[in-house]
Amino acid sequence: MILVTGGAGYIGSHCVQALLDAGRDVVIFDNLSTGHRETVEKLAGAGFVEGDLKNPADINGVFEKFDIEAVVHFAAFSQVGESVKEPYKYFQNNVCGSMNLLEAMVKHDCKKIVFSSTAAVYGEPDYTPIDENHPKHPINPYGETKLTVEMIMDDFEKAYGLKSVRLRYFNVAGADAQGRIGEWHEPETHLIPNVLKAAINPGKTFNLFGDDYPTKDGTCVRDYIDVNDLIDAHLLALKYLQSGGGTNVFNLGTQTGSTVKEVFETCKKVTGKEIPYEIQPRREGDPAILVADNKKAREILDWQPSRTLNDSVKNAWNWECQFINLNK
Ligand SMILES: NC(=O)c1ccc[n+]([C@@H]2O[C@H](COP(=O)([O-])OP(=O)(O)OC[C@H]3O[C@@H](n4cnc5c(N)ncnc54)[C@H](O)[C@@H]3O)[C@@H](O)[C@H]2O)c1
Repeated sequence: MILVTGGAGYIGSHCVQALLDAGRDVVIFDNLSTGHRETVEKLAGAGFVEGDLKNPADINGVFEKFDIEAVVHFAAFSQVGESVKEPYKYFQNNVCGSMNLLEAMVKHDCKKIVFSSTAAVYGEPDYTPIDENHPKHPINPYGETKLTVEMIMDDFEKAYGLKSVRLRYFNVAGADAQGRIGEWHEPETHLIPNVLKAAINPGKTFNLFGDDYPTKDGTCVRDYIDVNDLIDAHLLALKYLQSGGGTNVFNLGTQTGSTVKEVFETCKKVTGKEIPYEIQPRREGDPAILVADNKKAREILDWQPSRTLNDSVKNAWNWECQFINLNK
């Protein structure tokens, strides 16, 4: 049985679906703080325990009830701006919650975990593409919480032999190709769903922050990794750990960047709509370029991201259209 924390959320639900599609037994642990019961209901075949990682009894109960061979740990808060305003909430949830999970794992002799980390651990890039050895100097509490959990995992390995694979995601995008699940954040802070929402909702305008960066068209460059490719890497990371692989860290990105304007044009092409937009001043803390060096994941995990930005936008648009119809 694989335990997926945060399986009611955007990325976690895609992982649960992929594990079910691969014939694995899965139990979801989620407190539905930012995830959704409707999502869990769609993941037929997965077990569900509603509980909070901040409460040790909740997570210990899962290990008492199920024979867990490995954990994929997505549960966290992940809004950068909110983390700046409410650092206590972020450290308490992301760090204390993860500590409770790790302690419960050790107590029940479960020693393999795949962890959702983030490119935010690197902070402002010193060079690009960013490899795993790039200095880690996060510039917001969100990134600090993820780096702290990575450090705690090192200590748990030394003390108890717990093996972890930390996957540092760049910009995750897209949805299930069959339209079963997709991105559902409230509020939505990610670029592609926000452009698509401006395409579909009358009166909504897409805000483009900064068009005077030193990039080819003046807008920020980011590395958009399709959620299905991202989840392929999680399944490979589980296989790596379950076949004796040691603690490791991998960047998950495509190694190619797209500008905000390129993403916007792709959204226009996929939707066939004119999308209202306004240029706003730059946001504080947005580096001009963030692109992953993904060589290590390709070499060690044998991972090969194959979906294009167009694929991600197409699946996200399919999801967004279903979503607006359901919520009319
Ligand atoms: N979306 C991205 O682009 C991105 C990029 C880098 C890293 N990540 C990381 O990936 C993971 C998943 O992100 P997402 O976009 O799917 O977010 P999400 O908010 O959709 O999912 C997070 C899930 O965790 C659950 N959760 C949060 N705190 C919990 C707690 N204390 N106990 C139990 N459940 C709890 C939420 O209810 C939600 O279902 C997060 O760890 C995030 O930091 C995401």
